[in-house]
Amino acid sequence: MSLRQFLSTRALVRAMTAVKNGAALSWAEAARQLGLGSDLYADARHRELAQPVRVLLIGAGHRGGIYAQYAIESPREMRIVGVAEPQRRRLEDMASAHGVAAERQFAGWEQALAQPKFADAVIIATPDRLHTAPCLAALARGYDVLLEKPIAPTEPECRQILAAARASGRIVGVCHVLRYTPYFRELKALVDGGAIGQVISVQHLEPIEYTHMSHSYVRGQWRKSHASTPIILAKSCHDTDIIRWLVGDHADNVHCFGNLKWFTQVNAPPGSTERCTDGCAAEPHCPYSALQIYWRDRKRLYVFDLPEDRRLWSDFILQSLRDTDYGRCVYRMDNDQPDHLTVNILFRNGVTAGFSMEAHVSYEGRRTRIMGSMGDIVGNMESFTLTSFRSGQRKTWSLKTDAHGGGDHRMLKDWLQAVGQQDRTLLSSSIEDSAESHLMAYAAERSRIGKTIEDVRL
Ligand SMILES: NC(=O)c1ccc[n+]([C@@H]2O[C@H](COP(=O)([O-])OP(=O)(O)OC[C@H]3O[C@@H](n4cnc5c(N)ncnc54)[C@H](O)[C@@H]3O)[C@@H](O)[C@H]2O)c1
Repeated sequence: MSLRQFLSTRALVRAMTAVKNGAALSWAEAARQLGLGSDLYADARHRELAQPVRVLLIGAGHRGGIYAQYAIESPREMRIVGVAEPQRRRLEDMASAHGVAAERQFAGWEQALAQPKFADAVIIATPDRLHTAPCLAALARGYDVLLEKPIAPTEPECRQILAAARASGRIVGVCHVLRYTPYFRELKALVDGGAIGQVISVQHLEPIEYTHMSHSYVRGQWRKSHASTPIILAKSCHDTDIIRWLVGDHADNVHCFGNLKWFTQVNAPPGSTERCTDGCAAEPHCPYSALQIYWRDRKRLYVFDLPEDRRLWSDFILQSLRDTDYGRCVYRMDNDQPDHLTVNILFRNGVTAGFSMEAHVSYEGRRTRIMGSMGDIVGNMESFTLTSFRSGQRKTWSLKTDAHGGGDHRMLKDWLQAVGQQDRTLLSSSIEDSAESHLMAYAAERSRIGKTIEDVRL
């Protein structure tokens, strides 16, 4: 069943009617009032699985933790039966939370995948540069796979994974979680249903938010494109995927401008020091102060393995700012990721899309404008307004969900269903779709560096 058929079978129109004029009505409440349980986007094709999908978790960091939590909340759908993680404390914590046997705890993916197959599937949530090898090894062992994005840091590796996935016949899901958010599903259903006529063009903005940028792409593990992946992949392969999905056709050509303008040594303020903890004269007024972000505001702490006793946190965070990259001055790092870029895309059906990724903004939440022959849609991931050119009428939908718009666990649920039922059509995107969204990003990076217009060919 196509997504469109699927969505139209689920009382979507009734649901929209319930939600559209009531900004105060949450989606869960709308679903409840419509008798759809707690989730407007429950998939009618989901079945009670005969047994939970047995998962080997590779990488027990931030994302691995989010996915593992699902096994705690939904033990009938997923069970963690093996963990591979080199950081001892993470390995032990994850293993003990899920009752993983000692012989199924591994110091790395290499050891775990050297074993004969002992689970149904693997989740690969390792750093960007460590996706290809475990994915190929897992497919060779006969596992179904859930692979964190980006698929791989380079196009040849991405193509290698695509070829291996096709040859193996295994189910390979890529964590393009935005597709699973109610917000983007709603946009997709409206566009496919012809609500704005033919799509003519799309404008899409990804506002990273200035402290998020400083955290991940200036101080954090994605600050160097060659040690992780270019930011257009690391941050924006979600966006190339969403734009392509909404347009509903293949991308033909891509062009990109972008550079690192602000987070460089020349912008270091007078009196600034190597670390925010070194008595920096600019620290009290610096919007990127590590002391402010991590120590005073206690934000983005998931990168620190904090002690359980919260009374120890203050000293622990301060010490971490003295010891780790998270305490270093944002103007004195060895970062190279652009802090702004714009991408132009021409699709095979003539639709054009303009995409901007911006670090220097005070807000998060993608902004999307879809221009159609008979109407347009303007949205910000919390609400969107559709205006019909025929009637002049405007309708606004409003929703508030978690940081990924409710997508993380919905995506995981679909993948578990796909594995449990051995039916890849339950996934929103095929490995080919996911790979093509990555090819758009590799092409954009080539264009940015070479000042060229690039072709995209799967
Ligand atoms: N889908 C999304 O929206 C989304 C969001 C953020 C990050 N990500 C991606 O998820 C992946 C993981 O990101 P994260 O934020 O969880 O990073 P993280 O650093 O918190 O976790 C990665 C974990 O992998 C472990 N690891 C390293 N080498 C390993 C090995 N040989 N075998 C097994 N484990 C190993 C690390 O020790 C670490 O605990 C990255 O590729 C990242 O780009 C996806």
